[in-house]
Amino acid sequence: MILMKDITRDGDPVLRKEAAKVSFPLSEEDQKLADDMMEYLKVSQDPELCKKYGLRAGVGLAAPQVGVSKMMAAVLVPAEEGAKSPFTDVIINPVIISHSVQSGALTEGEGCLSVDKEVPGFVPRHDRITLRYQDTKGETHKVRLKNYPAIVCQHEIDHLHGILFYDHINKDNPYEVSDDTIMFE
Ligand code: NI
Repeated sequence: MILMKDITRDGDPVLRKEAAKVSFPLSEEDQKLADDMMEYLKVSQDPELCKKYGLRAGVGLAAPQVGVSKMMAAVLVPAEEGAKSPFTDVIINPVIISHSVQSGALTEGEGCLSVDKEVPGFVPRHDRITLRYQDTKGETHKVRLKNYPAIVCQHEIDHLHGILFYDHINKDNPYEVSDDTIMFE
């Protein structure tokens, strides 16, 4: 089971590397990695287990965050009172094939399991994306995501390209975003 001690922290070079594409069928090792990453998210979202194992709750975890430089990330955005659209899968070799001109950002800013300190500021991203990825069986999916799940996926895909969320924050004006940016929780 992945614990906080297994999470690579900012400063580790693996977080700044371009990850390698994953080939199919998945090796046993890659399948286990996929399972372990999704398990972390599930356990971390259970308040009791989260506390028991001393985890930080997460909705996404990318392979470089456990020291493996491969194009794989687990995403677990649960359905919340029907308001937010859920998205759950292990996304492998993900590519954003198109996106809205409209930007979107979280009113709370973003956090990351690999970044121990809070970095204040808005993180502008695409509000809507069309994402192509392979699942653990090698099947290709093309999904359209908007708002929160779209932001989570962009955050995770960034990890596969050596980018951290705070790279997107305007250094001079951390809370400045373009006028057409949709802000949401
Ligand atoms: Ni992150």
